[in-house]
Amino acid sequence: MKVHIVFCHPSKKSYTYEILEQIRLNLDAEKINYSISDLYKMNFQSDMTEEEYEREGFAKTDLPIPKDVKEEQDKMEAADGLIFIYPVWWSDCPAKLKGWFDRVYSVGYAYGQSAASDIRKMTTIKYGLVICTAGHPNDFLEEINIAASMRNIMLDDRLGNRFAKKEMIILGGTLEKEKVRPMHAKIIDSIGNKIKKFCN
Ligand SMILES: Cc1cc2nc3c(=O)[nH]c(=O)nc-3n(C[C@H](O)[C@H](O)[C@H](O)COP(=O)(O)O)c2cc1C
Repeated sequence: MKVHIVFCHPSKKSYTYEILEQIRLNLDAEKINYSISDLYKMNFQSDMTEEEYEREGFAKTDLPIPKDVKEEQDKMEAADGLIFIYPVWWSDCPAKLKGWFDRVYSVGYAYGQSAASDIRKMTTIKYGLVICTAGHPNDFLEEINIAASMRNIMLDDRLGNRFAKKEMIILGGTLEKEKVRPMHAKIIDSIGNKIKKFCN
């Protein structure tokens, strides 16, 4: 069983990085094999080039898939589960992760019909887990319908039917870290078990 983590935060001093470290400890304790794409550390290119736009916008699947995109697709193909970890910025993921979806979900692979038979189609991944930290408390994000919007976009659209089982955990209330940290730690501790349950 193998899990791939897509992590998106620029700072190792962040609460989101703290969450990544806790997840790593949990996966190590549960003896779950994992790899990480640390998008800022890799300096992952999130902007589309004009050639990529030509490929995506007009479904020109004969145009090449960039090497860095192919590498990310390879990591997904090798994984039974994917975990996305990021902070909520303006009610969504950071632009770098949005750019990861723009580029890595290439036409013919993650969506759309592929005329060329040699184009690889994305394999359905057993489990997709989205973990985001948020300054606002969960209750408030639910009340103003932003939590529902985030679930709608991340789970229904971006993960979509590419994942057999998908979940989103909002670790809210980070403006008062000391108050929420124990509750968040408890949630993180359950992740290894979820992976074992859904990735087998
Ligand atoms: C640019 C920016 C935009 C943010 N937008 C939101 C937001 O829309 N909703 C929210 O609840 N928190 C928002 N926050 C707060 C972050 O979600 C919060 O700081 C993060 O979850 C945890 O902090 P970290 O940066 O230490 O990991 C924002 C923070 C930044 C820096």
